Amino acid sequence: MITPPTEQTLADQQLVSETARRRTFAIISHPDAGKTTLTEKLLLYAGAIDLAGSVRTRKHQRHATSDWMAMERERGISITSTVLAVDYAGCRINLLDTPGHQDFSEDTYRTLMAVDSAVMVLDAAKGIEAQTRKLFEVCRRRGVPILTFINKLDQPGREPLDLLDEIEQVLQIGATPLNWPIGSGGDFQGVYNLSRRQVLRFTRTAHGAHRAPVQVADLADPALETLIGDAAAQRLRDDVALLEGAGAAFDEATFLRGEVTPVCFGSALNNFGVEPFLQTLVELAPPPGMRMSDRGLIDPITEPFSGFVFKIQANMDPQHRDRTAFIRICSGRFTKDMQVQNPRLGRSIRLTRPSRMFARERETVIEAFPGDVIGVTNPGVFAIGDTLCVGSPLTFTAIPRFAPECFAVLQNRSLAKHKQFHKGLEQLVEEGVVQLLYDPDGLRRETILAAVGELQFDVVQARMAAEYNVETTLEPLAYTAARWPTCSPEVLSETRLFSTIRQMRDSNGDPVLLFANEWELAYVERERPQLLLRVP
Ligand code: G4P
Repeated sequence: MITPPTEQTLADQQLVSETARRRTFAIISHPDAGKTTLTEKLLLYAGAIDLAGSVRTRKHQRHATSDWMAMERERGISITSTVLAVDYAGCRINLLDTPGHQDFSEDTYRTLMAVDSAVMVLDAAKGIEAQTRKLFEVCRRRGVPILTFINKLDQPGREPLDLLDEIEQVLQIGATPLNWPIGSGGDFQGVYNLSRRQVLRFTRTAHGAHRAPVQVADLADPALETLIGDAAAQRLRDDVALLEGAGAAFDEATFLRGEVTPVCFGSALNNFGVEPFLQTLVELAPPPGMRMSDRGLIDPITEPFSGFVFKIQANMDPQHRDRTAFIRICSGRFTKDMQVQNPRLGRSIRLTRPSRMFARERETVIEAFPGDVIGVTNPGVFAIGDTLCVGSPLTFTAIPRFAPECFAVLQNRSLAKHKQFHKGLEQLVEEGVVQLLYDPDGLRRETILAAVGELQFDVVQARMAAEYNVETTLEPLAYTAARWPTCSPEVLSETRLFSTIRQMRDSNGDPVLLFANEWELAYVERERPQLLLRVP
């Protein structure tokens, strides 16, 4: 007799299958490479048409800084910008937003702690740009697998081999093409899928691109000439021979270790190569895996619920002074109203009103699985990096702080509003918008802000005005780097430093050195190793 599965067995099976179909990733790119366009097209293919429309609107709202600073509209959809969940080809895609454009900040970096893979978008004419490089470094530190989409092939761009070479040289990661462009700019005809040996032709039409896959079993077949023309056929044969000669076959294991990036070429704007890229993404991007904690690696399936807070946002609803904490689930099943531990505080918390943006709707989450991101109301009990868990306590490896590169003195112009000024600052620091420093030898206790990007200062000023009714002025300081000496106080006080280097304290009271330029920092790192400098 066959015994029917118990409820527990069914629940276990569901956890396994739901986890296996999660793909949680973010897009990293330099402004204008095409992140918004690619996001829109990915959402279109996943059938989330309305969401696709909202992506660009949001980008334009962000451009209009004053609009953005009024924030209400922005706030209303900011859960959307934190994570978009859609279903595609049997997979649940969780696309986490990296606000990596005008509002480039630590938030962007922290988001990358919550993903299982990343998509790097490059502009074919520009290759690797500054911000791509910074974001890539964060992914590399975590060993996050990265897929690359080289965009704008419909415009004159650089040679594909040059672009691959640049990825390898500049980022020090292997680059394996999965497809190869046929022509570029005005002559862009499509791509050749290297493993399927298939030509995907692109024809411009009044309604965008039209594509027709054509099987070309043998590149020596003269039918290729008829298909793409003599010159393009010869060029493709030569390129493919060169690639095959170089023996650059794609290897999944090295990709999953973050040592090699598979590369696809296409044009997001013309809808060309986006769908095959999305298919590649769901095939290759890994589902949630093990995460390191103080108890060792945590298995997403066998361990009970655990997750961590990677983002906190205050005042999303202007009517209520609420704060939302965004949690990335790492293991086990999450259910609404679940009671979890916060080991940092040693207390138990009920996760009420969890929500998530699914397709068009902001919905209440009844249950969620590893890889998912949920937003919960934070009555001041969560801080960025907090682990939440059920069962024996654990703490996930800390979310690193990133070294600030911009510094400024913030002054309160509404003197009567001393209390609001401090409360606002405290909350913005809790959200991780900026770090606070102070000068222990200063006559007055100045409020010194430190941030990864300048725009964070604008955010502080705007939000202080809009949410706390406090007008402030900002005076930039001419420092470009900060390092934390971890030597003893005696060694620090005995070490001779340039007079231009300023010593401050952070909010924990730890000493911080501010440097005016890279040269000064490099000199001190090299010549004063006894300081044991570290990034935060
Ligand atoms: P971002 O989010 O990375 O900043 O880039 P976004 O997608 O907004 O793209 C930046 C510009 O590049 C946009 O033009 C967009 O239309 C264009 N673009 C994106 N993909 C392609 C492509 O495959 N080919 C070509 N030729 N252009 C592409 P814009 O005029 O600056 O902005 P918009 O008015 O379209 O928003």
